[in-house]
Amino acid sequence: MCGIVGYFGKRKASDILVDGLRRLEYRGYDSAGIACLFDGRIDVVKNPGKIKDLRLKVDSAASPILKESIQGIGHTRWATHGPPNEVNAHPHLDASGHFAMVHNGIIENYKDIRSGLAKEGIECISDTDSETLVQLIAFCYKGNLEDAVSEALQRIKGTYGIVVMTDHEPGKLVVARCGSPIVIGIGRNETLIASDASAIIPHTRDAIYLEDFDMAVITPDGMEICSVDRAPVSREVTAMDWDAAAAEKGEYKHFMLKEMFEQPQSIRNAIRGRLDYEMGTAVLSGLDFSARDAAQINRVLVVGCGTSMHAGMVGEYAIEEMAGVNAEVEQAAEFRYRNPLITPSDLVVAISQSGETADTLAAVREAKQKGALVAGLCNVVGSTIARETGRGVYLHAGPEIGVASTKAFTCQVSVMLMMALKLARTRRMPGHEGTEFARWIQRLPELVEEVLKQNDAIKAIAQKYAKCEHAFFIGRGYLFPVALEGALKLKEISYVHAEGYHAAELKHGPIALLQEDTPVIALLNNVPGKEKTQGNAEECKARKAPVIAVVSAGDEGAAEGFDDVIVVPDCPPAITTIPTVVALQLLAYHIAAARGCEIDQPRNLAKSVTVE
Ligand code: M6R
Repeated sequence: MCGIVGYFGKRKASDILVDGLRRLEYRGYDSAGIACLFDGRIDVVKNPGKIKDLRLKVDSAASPILKESIQGIGHTRWATHGPPNEVNAHPHLDASGHFAMVHNGIIENYKDIRSGLAKEGIECISDTDSETLVQLIAFCYKGNLEDAVSEALQRIKGTYGIVVMTDHEPGKLVVARCGSPIVIGIGRNETLIASDASAIIPHTRDAIYLEDFDMAVITPDGMEICSVDRAPVSREVTAMDWDAAAAEKGEYKHFMLKEMFEQPQSIRNAIRGRLDYEMGTAVLSGLDFSARDAAQINRVLVVGCGTSMHAGMVGEYAIEEMAGVNAEVEQAAEFRYRNPLITPSDLVVAISQSGETADTLAAVREAKQKGALVAGLCNVVGSTIARETGRGVYLHAGPEIGVASTKAFTCQVSVMLMMALKLARTRRMPGHEGTEFARWIQRLPELVEEVLKQNDAIKAIAQKYAKCEHAFFIGRGYLFPVALEGALKLKEISYVHAEGYHAAELKHGPIALLQEDTPVIALLNNVPGKEKTQGNAEECKARKAPVIAVVSAGDEGAAEGFDDVIVVPDCPPAITTIPTVVALQLLAYHIAAARGCEIDQPRNLAKSVTVE
């Protein structure tokens, strides 16, 4: 969603800000802008549309402020209040033009603030909730920016990550956070601020993650952090371990393609050091409960959204099947509001690539409030969910830039399978079975490589179906969540209307939609109930829908009579989820590419959904 960058140092601010915004493009946005302060004046450049156009506008501006400034703020906006246009884009200025601010989050009581300001003769010019905050800060200003920010923030309701500056106090940036992430990078003679570490890793690895209600004041003398109501706080400097090159496309045409091909390595990283073949178990040090405590867990509740929820569903099946523990998956937004029944013997697992998804975070807070044991499965180190759960497992997938989640999903499933193994071994699973399953997990990277070798063949199939407007994915058992994920991948990047269904569900309605130009992707690998799914695929064929069959190696006969076939390595049902989803990722990618879609930044989507 929206992205923030800020800079104060010795270098040309506009270059660093625009480059930082480019690195945040993947989060999804529809307008962008920067503000720089130099020689006691602020200049702003904003643009609806792409960062490359903003860059042209900045480069062609004659303003000495943009050319000389060493201090500034920038923003990518994903429209919520008002359309994406220049006025609504950030940075916002107050009415006097002396204060500039960028804001992520939502000011819930902005209408009240706006009418209060109007009574004081201050009119807002944009449709946004954000502008009211900078107007309020200016209104509260009595000679000290942090005092004004503190006062204004105590009057608002909602969430924020903000960076503010004023030409009354050149050299100062005030940063604050509540519910919207902010990381402050500490470089040599410079300070960088961002909503997401990827914007600042090229410049520094030392960072401070602000907590909710923190306010940082950055000046040429250094940085001070306190709470919004001015109580002193201390925050540790942590080292960001992501490689800057990992956030570049390299030789690949799209981040999504690169990230799909990184999967053998990312899975290796996710499982490294976490399998004990001798004891036939998984060693997940972040899940720090003893075997005895693990044996007390009565139920595992998995919460997440989108792709992460699909990974949770695979985990649900594995935990119940292998460990015999009751497991349930719930859409995080539903969990947070329906007053779920939770007991202290429940383990709530929150899955989130970004670790910032608003609904998943709220579900974590609700589960903690109700006394459950809570764990996080996050990719982004230091993210809010990772910090608030305090217990969990990092995915180690590396930065995932493509909006369509690929390597995070396969790492999430790998970790869920290890968690199922760990729980299973504290209960009914014998050691030799644990060792066998651990060996299958170890083989996942090579199984994925087998599928990636079929890239060209899958591309050829994709090109045959690139013009379709509707598609169905069907599967059973472990392959049901894979069907959901395959459909999600296709719809989000190609705009083909795609639905994932349990194969048995087709006859309860969706089969009415099948036509000659509606492909059905049938997951016919070796899982219990395969023959039944085969029968369902036959029913689709009988309605003239073309069928793409995904089958296990050695069982190619299962595809007989169908239009196209993709063969994935033969492996146990829980394990087959990963190679199968990789085949569906490639299919979705090549269909989207053939349709000329903007794969890494699909329309209307944001990488991380930080508002409800
Ligand atoms: O960062 P999270 O894993 O919490 O994000 C959850 C979803 O927003 C995300 O998986 C989304 O569905 C992806 N775009 C799917 O590719």
